[in-house]
Amino acid sequence: MGQPDAVWAQDPAPAAEAAPLLKTTPYLQAMSQDSVIITWHTSRPAYSWVNYRPEGSTEPPLTAISSTYGLKDVGLVQKIRLSNLEPGVTYTYSINSREVTKIRPYQFTFGGNITVREKNGKPLTFTTWPEKADTFSFVMINDLHDGIQKHENLINVTDVSTAEFVCYNGDIVTDKNDGDAAIKFFLQTPLDTYAWEKPFFMLRGNHETRGAFARNLHEFFPTQNNQFYYTFTYGDVFFVNLDCGEDKPDDSSEYGGLVDFDSYRSEQVEWLKKVVQLPAYKNARYRVFFCHIPPAGGGEQNVEVDIIKPDGTRQAVTDFSRAWHGDIEVRDKFLPFLFDNKADLLLCGHLHRLVNYEFRRGKDILPVLVNSHVDGLRVDISPERIFMKVINQQGEELITREVLPREEQEANAGGAIRVGPILIQ
Ligand SMILES: [Fe+2]
Repeated sequence: MGQPDAVWAQDPAPAAEAAPLLKTTPYLQAMSQDSVIITWHTSRPAYSWVNYRPEGSTEPPLTAISSTYGLKDVGLVQKIRLSNLEPGVTYTYSINSREVTKIRPYQFTFGGNITVREKNGKPLTFTTWPEKADTFSFVMINDLHDGIQKHENLINVTDVSTAEFVCYNGDIVTDKNDGDAAIKFFLQTPLDTYAWEKPFFMLRGNHETRGAFARNLHEFFPTQNNQFYYTFTYGDVFFVNLDCGEDKPDDSSEYGGLVDFDSYRSEQVEWLKKVVQLPAYKNARYRVFFCHIPPAGGGEQNVEVDIIKPDGTRQAVTDFSRAWHGDIEVRDKFLPFLFDNKADLLLCGHLHRLVNYEFRRGKDILPVLVNSHVDGLRVDISPERIFMKVINQQGEELITREVLPREEQEANAGGAIRVGPILIQ
């Protein structure tokens, strides 16, 4: 776990024992068809384990632990990966931590134990993702910028309770210096509403790269490949989470010479070359990409951009002279890749306004939906279409948009993309 070695390497401080050992209840990360990482926080260093078994089973529970280099992990963020699970099965689980107060050669001192089996009076459960799913829903929320009430509102109006997962598309945990602030301003809301039984994915925006906590962010939000860029599949939809990095050039004075995002974005292009060779990518009905910063248009590849208005009319965007460095990097490095490999949809945030774009490069078309910082996006997937609704905090639909399967789009001369009526502006 990488931290906090200084704590248990020294004699324990008696005053620190006042806080309960359990700092947060559990939240699910990196869910897939056969694995999940159950994550929680303790107020003092501990090692942990999870007991689990299929719901209704009378067999003894299985136990999962976490160790690195042969040593059980001891730290403040408890991350227990459960592997070799069955798809589409509900499991009951308990989380367990034992405080470690001192480690010396042949001498160990332990504090208390905690076990949590319930949340809101019900057994803790999660359900692995099914092997097949023709229809399902997910929610995207972005640019919360520490808005706790906004977060609660958007969870309600997008009906997260009937969605399979939530994607937080950047600028959620804004400019944090410590993890406690990240818990207070972001994590506590999922912890209180759904995160023990339903997973969320945290994608970085440009603000998640700022402040001291940026260097510990991944500790809180583990992923299958230990990167902030990764893929997952649900049903026959292939999802790609791109990590846009900062919005200004690496040598901007704001970053103090401490960032390296140009090469990081290039690294993701190399990774993408392997991703598109995967059978799951090739065979997917839909390929959905997330990237916090939307691309600029124009450039060497002469990418054309239309804004599709709520009444279905279009407005061409022709002036890209004020595009920021991040927008241009996303355009020049990621966008050609999305065109070349027939991505079906790119979902973004960052602009703090709702913009319904269509990007074109010659005959290639890419729908790009930019959600605002005050609304939520509900996406309902079916074999017939990707159906998107942008919903405000009062529960009113702002726009709807649908994307049809590629074969159908191609049959319709490359773009049966329709925009629903606007109900409120
Ligand atoms: Fe942003």
